[in-house]
Amino acid sequence: MKGMIFTSLGDLVEEEFGIGAWNRTLARIDSVVDGAYIEADTYPASEMLSLVGALVEELQVPAPQLLDLFGQKLFFDLYRLYPELVDRHTELVPFLASVGTDIHEEMKILHVDAEVPDMRCDFYDRNQLTMYYDSPRKMCLLAEGLVRGAAQHFDKTIELEHSECMHEGADRCKFEMRLVPAS
Ligand code: HEM
Repeated sequence: MKGMIFTSLGDLVEEEFGIGAWNRTLARIDSVVDGAYIEADTYPASEMLSLVGALVEELQVPAPQLLDLFGQKLFFDLYRLYPELVDRHTELVPFLASVGTDIHEEMKILHVDAEVPDMRCDFYDRNQLTMYYDSPRKMCLLAEGLVRGAAQHFDKTIELEHSECMHEGADRCKFEMRLVPAS
């Protein structure tokens, strides 16, 4: 998994909970790094899963809340790194529909070792879409946070129903999303 994902999580924890919390979390896991993660390096995805588990214990924050916060922060960090990939779009729903087919595919070209999830839509129009998430890393709650980060970026409110989940035995997760009309 790319170092940028780890540095984004580290920055979030330092900003919200302090450097001490981050250092204590690193001490809880058998980390491959001695010190700090480097944005351009690649680390085992299993280390990210260990970090999230250790943070839940260290911060006493439920995993869904932590991953939602992390997803929102990660969206803004990805946008900082790749603004041109997001700025091609002016509308949230077509943007979300393109992540699996375009953006993640481009990530695999830019970073040959990128491990991105499979994300497909079987239907969308300007206001709603159904998206399927499939990944051996099962980071569907992070995906939800990324969707909320994207909604903030496009200045929209989106309702998301996670109606099927890999953590509950489904083959893949199903997200049914609908824009909330501006009042
Ligand atoms: C809201 C839309 C998005 C969603 C729901 C999403 C979902 C995810 C998830 C859940 C992961 C973690 C790995 C996994 O689950 O297997 C991931 C990884 C990643 N995504 Fe996305 N993503 C979105 C937008 C973007 C954008 C806009 C970019 C870049 C411009 C991007 C680039 C990446 C990269 C670089 C990785 C890490 C690959 C690696 O570490 O090997 N994603 N994405």
